Parts: sequence; structure tokens; C-alpha cells
Amino acid sequence: MRLTFIAILTMTVSAALADSHSDKCLVDATDAFDLSGAEVETLYACMEGKMLAGYTKGDSEIAAAYRSWTNSATRPAVAGAHGERFLQTFANDIAAEQYLKFEDEGVVMPAGSILAKESIKLGKEGKPARVGPLFIMEKLEAGGAPDTGDWFYSGVQPNGKPLKIKQSFCHNCHVGWEDSDMLAYPVEEVRVSMN
Ligand code: HEC
Repeated sequence: MRLTFIAILTMTVSAALADSHSDKCLVDATDAFDLSGAEVETLYACMEGKMLAGYTKGDSEIAAAYRSWTNSATRPAVAGAHGERFLQTFANDIAAEQYLKFEDEGVVMPAGSILAKESIKLGKEGKPARVGPLFIMEKLEAGGAPDTGDWFYSGVQPNGKPLKIKQSFCHNCHVGWEDSDMLAYPVEEVRVSMN
């Protein structure tokens, strides 16, 4: 098995060391594209609690709520964009029905839709995996943000603080999916089937 947790290794060293390292999530790969689905699931199981704990350290209401929303994927997956992080997107009640259709054309998301996307970054050269930002898109009322298709982009850092971003940085890439109302969707193999 290529995915190794230090929790197992530390069983051979002192209990004190085990305590301080048992929360590290180690992966025996530096290229995110090399992991199998099963390995990603194991990584997620190790990172899940850390992500939520980090995102909810601040006062983001979205960070506090998104885990009760609809998960659009069977597991996190790497798409390439967003820094080759593993990504997993949750849709709030207003967004879920339309988002989970993964339609390519004529999509108009209802105002009040929110998509929140967890991210995990693999460590370099034997370093543990790290929590990445929670990326957020909120659909405003018509005319609310004319330059960005009425989407408001934001994010929560792993320490709970707001991510500092420019709307144009996010939108200049997302505008490539204009026909689906700026939505790029999870990679196909992990999309949650509507059937
Ligand atoms: C270089 C292109 C690129 C940039 C820049 C980018 N994104 Fe994305 N984004 C994507 C792609 C591709 C996906 C779909 C892949 C996935 O989620 O697995 C995505 C998905 C998302 C989603 C899930 C909704 C959807 O489109 O399916 C959110 C939320 C999101 N991005 C927020 C942001 C925010 C916030 C920023 C700016 C900080 C940003 N993105 C910058 C390419 C980009």
C-alpha cells in the first residue's frame, strides 16, 4: 500500500512521539494524479476532520454549514486547476438540483445558490498532505455583480480567515464555462449520479 500513515510508523517509537505525529496524513506520492481512487479515499478520511476544524476556526457561516449540504462527488478528485489540489464540491439546497445535473448548456443557477469546495494539497517529498482553502461561489440577484455573471467568489483559508482574492482572478478562468453559468463541475468519474 502506497498510502502510509505515520500513526502506524509511530507505533514503533515512543508514545509521546506518536501523540504529536498521529494526525499527519502521509502519502507515498508527490504527483496528485498518481493516486488511485482508494488511496484518495484513505487520504480524505485522514484529512476530513482537519479541514472542517480549520475552516470553522473563523466566523464563516458557509464553513459552518457546507457539510450538511449535498456532496456532488463520490470522493475528492484532482482536476488540475486549483493548484492540482484534490477538490470536492458541496451544493446548498438552492443550488443542488441544478448543479447535480452537470449540464453543459443553458444553465442559469438560481440566486442564493452556493457552492463550497474543499481542497487538499499533497505534501512535497515525504511531507504530510495539507488542507487547502475552501473555495466558494455564491450566485447573487440579477445585476448584483455584472462583471462576474452575478457570481461572488470567495474562500476560507485553512486557518479560518477569509482568502484574499480578486474577483477577476477567479472569474477570468471560470468564464470559460459561460454556457454552464461559469460552473466547471467535478471530473466526470466522481460525479454523483442523479439516478
Ligand atoms: C485556472 C482556472 C481556475 C481558477 C483561476 C479558479 N477556478 Fe474554480 N474551478 C476550476 C475548475 C476546472 C473547477 C472544476 C474542477 C473541480 O472542482 O473538480 C472549478 C470549480 C470551482 C468551484 C465549484 C463549482 C464549479 O465550478 O463546479 C468553486 C466554488 C470554485 N471553483 C471557486 C473558485 C474561486 C473562489 C476561485 C478564485 C480564488 C477559483 N475558483 C479560481 C477552475 C478555476
